[in-house]
Formats: sequence, C-alpha cells, structure tokens
Amino acid sequence: MITVFGSANMDLVAYVSKAPQRGETVTGREFRTIPGGKGANQAIAAARAGAAVAFIGAVGEDAFGTELRDTLAAAGVNVSLLRRVPGLSGIAHIVVDDTGANSIIVVPGANGTVGGPTGNDRALIAASQALLLQLELPMEAVIAAARAAREAGVPVILTPAPAQPLPNGLLDAVTLLIPNEHEAAAITGTASPEAAMDALLRRVDEAVITLGSEGALYGSSSGERIRVPAVKVQAVDTTAAGDTFAGAFAVAQSEGRDAEEALRFASAAAALSVQRAGASTSMPTRVEIEASQA
Ligand code: ATP
Ligand code: RIB
Repeated sequence: MITVFGSANMDLVAYVSKAPQRGETVTGREFRTIPGGKGANQAIAAARAGAAVAFIGAVGEDAFGTELRDTLAAAGVNVSLLRRVPGLSGIAHIVVDDTGANSIIVVPGANGTVGGPTGNDRALIAASQALLLQLELPMEAVIAAARAAREAGVPVILTPAPAQPLPNGLLDAVTLLIPNEHEAAAITGTASPEAAMDALLRRVDEAVITLGSEGALYGSSSGERIRVPAVKVQAVDTTAAGDTFAGAFAVAQSEGRDAEEALRFASAAAALSVQRAGASTSMPTRVEIEASQA
C-alpha cells in the first residue's frame, strides 16, 4: 500500500487562447470544475497505475468536499482517514492556454487545517510501502508525517511543490525527491539539471528532476544517473503531469522495478495525462500505460 499525506483542491479551470496579462481581461473558451490538489492527484495517479492507495488530508463541509471525497473513493483510494472539517475546501484557480501551459493560484481552505499525523495516521503510514508528500499542507504537518514514516522505516517521496524553502528537518527525512526543473533550481541555486542533481544528492539518497517535454533525469547517491526523454505527444493540458509522474514512479518502485523501468513507466503515464484536460480527469489506468509502452 502507498499512502499519500497531502492536499485536495477543487480546480476551477478557465481555458483561454492566451493567459491575461496584469490589468487585462480576456474571454475564455470553456470553464470546468475538476477535482485536483497535488496530494489527491498523486493518490489517484497511483491507484489508477495499479497500487492500493490510502489518502490522508482534509476537505471542507461544502459541496466541493463531497465531490473530492467521492472522486478519490471512485478511483479506489481508501479515504477512511480523510478529515471533513467546517468551512470551505481548498480550491485552485487555474488558467490553461492554447499551448497546454497553466498558471495556478491555490487557496488552501481545509488543507490549511491539517496538523501532524494522528495515531491512526501513524499506524497507516507505518504499514505502507511508501509515503508520498507534497507542499500544499502546513509545513509542520508535512515534516511530522515525513518523520513518522522514517521512524517506521517507510520510504518518503517528496514533490517539493509549490516551490518554497525546504527546512533541513524535512529533507533529512526524505528518501526520494521529485522536483521539476524550476523547483530543483530554486532548492539548489543552480539552473543546470545535472549540477542541480549533484547538489540534491548531497541532501537526499535519490532524486528525479522532471524536465517537462524534455523528459526526466534520475540520480542516486551511489553514482547512478539515468536520463529518459519524454514520450513525443501533443500536449493539451499539462496540469498534474508532475503528480501523475510521481504517483506512477512510486508504484513502479514499490513493485521492485529498477530506476530506468520506473522512469519509463512514469514518463508513459505522464505523457498520457498531458494529452487530456484537467488533473484527476487526465490520469491513465495501468492498462492504458502498459498499452502505450507496448
Ligand atoms: P505540473 O506542475 O504541470 O504538474 P511539473 O512541472 O511538476 O508539472 P513537468 O516536468 O512539467 O512537471 O512534467 C512531468 C513529466 O511529465 C515530465 O518529466 C514528462 O515525463 C511528462 N511531460 C510533461 N510535459 C510533457 C509533454 N509536453 N510531452 C510529453 N510528456 C510530458
Ligand atoms: O499539480 C497540479 C495541482 O496543483 C492542481 O490540481 C491544483 O489543485 C494545484 O494544487
């Protein structure tokens, strides 16, 4: 089982030809509400990719909260430890342009109420093969969850997004870090992915830097380096490509696949996701991932 301790947001998505500049108003083509949030996305991606998955987080007592919980459950994710709290669920205000690129504002809502893991959360984490974390919950809660996993000998996989300074107390508990190239540059202060990888591996055992349409770079502190290209596809919406990659990579690793196989499996899953609109709506099933690799 893979456990995700993370955020759930309702994504409020406007599709436009070109995102508005400051002070500008543009007319959009379409508007959709789509369940998302980096934590929920990774949980759904991992479940669709073939793992048993549990999600720990919080949604509000609003209609979005009901839809977010139901979407996770419909994907087969165990939501028995999902909190339902007074007030509003988290939302993400997203603009997607004609190139498939996005810009996002997150308002945390219920995600901001999540504290460190409870006794039940700790028991679930300790029984897991991996704990997936992102940075859309309060930092103290993320650190406490990472430490709980590490104390139980459970690998901790962190997507350090949205980009922000990373306390040593967090990185000390991380096994595998999966930043995109911008996050890797922000953490290490170096723009070159190869140099950023060297710097990351002085702080964690393993890292994957995702490089969008340029693929992904893997490194381990034992000296292994693997670069895989992205699958050539026409992207329509890259929202949650990174989450799909992280969820699928965790599944492949938990099945004992080596780093190169895990990279190829995750790249195939993410390439499928960028060809579909939305976050939770875009993640492929295992059958789809394997068919695309055949
Ligand atoms: P997001 O924030 O949009 O979820 P991200 O910035 O975290 O994404 P990226 O590095 O953009 O992550 O993408 C993650 C992975 O998705 C890449 O390593 C690649 O495998 C795949 N991917 C992203 N964009 C494309 C694309 N245009 N074509 C094919 N694969 C892509
Ligand atoms: O990584 C994509 C996610 O970021 C979106 O689903 C949105 O909710 C934001 O959290």
